[in-house]
Amino acid sequence: MTSPSAKKQHLLLVDDDQRMRELLTDVFTGKGYQVTATADGREALLHIEATAFDTVITDLMMPNVSGTEVLAAALRRDAQLPVIIITGYGTVDSAIAAMKLGAHDYIQKPFDPEELALIVERALAHYQLVKQNRDLTAKVTLLQGSELIGSSPAIQAVKELIAKLAPLTVSLLICGETGTGKELVARLIHRNSARAANNFLAINCGALSETLLESELFGHERGAFTGAVEQKKGLLEAASGGTLFLDEINSMPLSLQVKLLRVLQDGTFLRVGGTKELTTDLRVISASNTDLKGLIAKGLFRDDLYYRLNGMEINLPPLRERREDIAELAYHFLHRYSRKYDKAIQDIAPQALRMLTDAPWPGNVRELENIMSRAVIMEPSATITTTALPASLGAPSLPQAAANLMTMEEMERYMINKALSATNNNRALAAQILGIDVSTLWRKAKRYDL
Ligand SMILES: Nc1ncnc2c1ncn2[C@@H]1O[C@H](COP(=O)(O)OP(=O)(O)OP(=O)(O)O)[C@@H](O)[C@H]1O
Ligand SMILES: [Mg+2]
Repeated sequence: MTSPSAKKQHLLLVDDDQRMRELLTDVFTGKGYQVTATADGREALLHIEATAFDTVITDLMMPNVSGTEVLAAALRRDAQLPVIIITGYGTVDSAIAAMKLGAHDYIQKPFDPEELALIVERALAHYQLVKQNRDLTAKVTLLQGSELIGSSPAIQAVKELIAKLAPLTVSLLICGETGTGKELVARLIHRNSARAANNFLAINCGALSETLLESELFGHERGAFTGAVEQKKGLLEAASGGTLFLDEINSMPLSLQVKLLRVLQDGTFLRVGGTKELTTDLRVISASNTDLKGLIAKGLFRDDLYYRLNGMEINLPPLRERREDIAELAYHFLHRYSRKYDKAIQDIAPQALRMLTDAPWPGNVRELENIMSRAVIMEPSATITTTALPASLGAPSLPQAAANLMTMEEMERYMINKALSATNNNRALAAQILGIDVSTLWRKAKRYDL
């Protein structure tokens, strides 16, 4: 049944009848199983806690701890673990009760050990399948854990790339417009990596001043600068063993780029104001919404750092280039926000869906998510209709819409005209309303011929 190299299947055998224990241990050991046998229910519970058995065989009537308790403990450990009940004459009813509690099968004494062996073999085959299936779903849910939705070839390719790259420690650069899912992908990679049990820490390089960014990343010693009243660990230390996500890396000041490069090269750094060299073990994932090559050409980004960060690049295409994902994403967010806001909206009316799939989506998935969340709140019926969507969604995208805008001069002329007529040509008052001084108003009124 098992090849010599395969790991032996491990059985736990619980029976207070010594003859039975010895007989079954012999039979199963002879068939190549590893057998742990015990007469004591309490000991059985400890074994179950400590070891992942492949099957448990337990007598029902034992002193101290009953077979039912052994069963319960085994199923607590793994609800699918096969437990086979041995029962004597007169306890068949309890065996059936045990089946209802989730025992895999039972066998009544006296029995032929070969018959039990057959039951065990079948139970194991079944358990094997369950486990394989579970591994698969675990993998899939891991990828779905943070729900990267989309079936377009582009997103499929991204998923494949994630699966390939996640287990490696190679630095990754994720590129894409705002709202395309860069952070989502970074988290997904972390979760699917060997570092998943450790920290995923993110910092937005574009949101902090240079000094703050440096102290956040590198940490600082007490008294390193005004306000540094205590020593502080930076993200480089806190993310050690895990993943550091450098968001908007394109905004990182050149001076910090040099320092970061050093960390990436040899894993060492100093805290701000510190003299002791510290080490860290990081996987760095960075994200950029602008073309770093362009910044390099302008001297705003170091090319040596670029090559360090970009062990591999993942490109997230804008939503307008994968319109086939829009409906799927829209329904995904519909269900999420329906649940969140406790609404029973299940569907999107065809016209509303058309509006969604045709929209330009400059804000990409984040914009779609916001609009769906708003629509769920606004929609009174059980189906999202066009009225729950912003009218501007169906409006032509920027170039045409811009044709309706006024020039600044037109606007100024309009405002001055309005202020003058509202004040009956009281120039002092009009100037006050407009927040300019009277001489400016005079000059402009003359220029616009008012
Ligand atoms: N493929 C996707 N499936 C499901 N949700 C997505 C997908 N892509 C993005 N999202 C969701 O859209 C929102 C924006 O994504 P995220 O924050 O990862 O974008 P980003 O590229 O980091 O944007 P920015 O550049 O503005 O920081 C998040 O709520 C995220 O969960
Ligand atoms: Mg982001």
